[in-house]
Amino acid sequence: MTGRRLVVTRTLTPAAMAAVEQLGVDAVVLGDGPPTREALVEAVPGAAAIVSVLTERIDGEVLAAAGPSLRIVANVAAGVDNVDLEAAAARGVVVTNTPDVLDEATADLAFALILATTRRIVESDRFIRGGDPWIWGPNDWIGLQLSAGATLGIVGLGRIGMAVARRAHAFGARIVATGSRASSEEAAALGVTRVELDELFSTADVVSLHCPLTPGTRGMVDAERLRSMRRGSYLINTGRGPLVDEEALADALDSGQLAGAGLDVHEHEPRVNERLRASERVVLLPHIGSAGAATRDAMGLLAVRNVEAVLAGGRPITPVA
Ligand code: GLV
Repeated sequence: MTGRRLVVTRTLTPAAMAAVEQLGVDAVVLGDGPPTREALVEAVPGAAAIVSVLTERIDGEVLAAAGPSLRIVANVAAGVDNVDLEAAAARGVVVTNTPDVLDEATADLAFALILATTRRIVESDRFIRGGDPWIWGPNDWIGLQLSAGATLGIVGLGRIGMAVARRAHAFGARIVATGSRASSEEAAALGVTRVELDELFSTADVVSLHCPLTPGTRGMVDAERLRSMRRGSYLINTGRGPLVDEEALADALDSGQLAGAGLDVHEHEPRVNERLRASERVVLLPHIGSAGAATRDAMGLLAVRNVEAVLAGGRPITPVA
């Protein structure tokens, strides 16, 4: 495949970079950090393939700059909200993502956030580090106990949502969910009850978001939704930041409507809301849902395999529908 040009927008893991090298194409890697918009637009003309990550906006301008040689955009993520799918389709450019390989790692992290917020782990760790004297007390550091049959609401029972449901089932939680897979046999075996979104928000003790960011889901957790939640409940977001109106979330935490929130993703990423940063009851992470070593390798390798398949004239392995 020599002579074909591949633009990789960020340096991937060593295993994935080795796979890029083995492709035998002219690969240009734009660097360890995110490229500037200008660097991206200048790098793509004549490219047959772009391997992108979620921090790069692959829109009509980038696709037009790449020109008619471009065959595939292989996004190293499950979400593809950073890619203009319509513009790609109009140009006959295949878009692929990396589903499946990150389900377990992301579900692990969602569960870590559920436990960190409900059992007040980060807050109490901060307390210990503050050096104040303390002694065990029967009424101290009380938190919600998922393992005592609290209700977890999974918004979006897709692959990652199901992986969260498996963990929640093992913990003894009651599970309600929205999403098309909610009626599957496995979901039934885990005791998942399918409900409408309104019911999920009004009955769950913990709501965890696992739906894609689309025009229809942007801002779905707004002031009204938050008001509909149980007093003292929790919100967990390992999906995409703009699903949540963060100012409304900060209001809900300030008023005690919500007892806590765990956010791996942020509305204006990488900027973090100052009011949330100041809140003791919020656990904030730098978008590390898929950052398990095996998963990050698998994501990069899957993107490279998609490029290989398409440049060889075959079908992509994981096309975005
Ligand atoms: C990560 O956020 C992904 O969508 O893969």
